[in-house]
Amino acid sequence: MKLDQAIQERRSIRGFTDQPVSRDILEEVIALANRAPSSMNTQPWHLHVLTGEPLEKVRQGNTERMLGGVPPSREIEDHGAYQGEHRKRQVEIAVQLFEAMGIARDDAGRRQDWVMRGFRQFDAPVSVVVCFDRELLNNTIAHFDTGAMTYGLVLAAWSRGLGAVINGQGIMQSPVVREVANIPDDQVILTCVALGWPDDDFVANSVVSRRRPVSNTARFLGFAE
Ligand SMILES: Cc1cc2nc3c(=O)[nH]c(=O)nc-3n(C[C@H](O)[C@H](O)[C@H](O)COP(=O)(O)O)c2cc1C
Repeated sequence: MKLDQAIQERRSIRGFTDQPVSRDILEEVIALANRAPSSMNTQPWHLHVLTGEPLEKVRQGNTERMLGGVPPSREIEDHGAYQGEHRKRQVEIAVQLFEAMGIARDDAGRRQDWVMRGFRQFDAPVSVVVCFDRELLNNTIAHFDTGAMTYGLVLAAWSRGLGAVINGQGIMQSPVVREVANIPDDQVILTCVALGWPDDDFVANSVVSRRRPVSNTARFLGFAE
């Protein structure tokens, strides 16, 4: 697949088939993701790839704690509620997803189901827990570098027909993930990527989120016209 096509067509996938994902293809995708640039080539990231029983334990622990009213526990600073334009974009994608799924505004039950689905990492067969070195916790460049690697991972997966959604929901109860996956103390959990073979019948998978145009994201200085 051409790079432009992968970038253009990739979208978050939130419904997966039961087909397992082989370790070989995951290693291939991670080797490509590892080619990401990083500040001074520090490569601060670490990936913990979960499937089967450990992933089920994470899903269960995350779900039980969320349902039990345990406040979310992340290892990076919370961004808080989005405001203004950010909030508008957040609402826009939520509306697109709910419309595709036929979930009405006032259908509290199905809305709650959708949220719980997120806490189960959309029942994906694989979860990649994305961490970075704790000694760089206050170095925002390490977050940037790890993000660059994560996008590479998602694109490399997509070009092989694998679907993914980067998601904070799956590690919302990070102590559960830390314990089950035995994450070393010198690493911080940043996010996770739910990954698997896309279920073509799951309508939310066809939702294409909107983007700001170039005229709204970039300024050009010193050009001829
Ligand atoms: C850091 C990060 C965290 C995210 N967390 C979630 C999440 O918890 N649940 C979810 O459904 N999608 C999550 N997403 C996916 C975004 O909603 C999605 O990327 C955005 O709406 C654009 O849609 P697209 O990926 O289909 O282009 C996350 C994406 C990123 C980059």
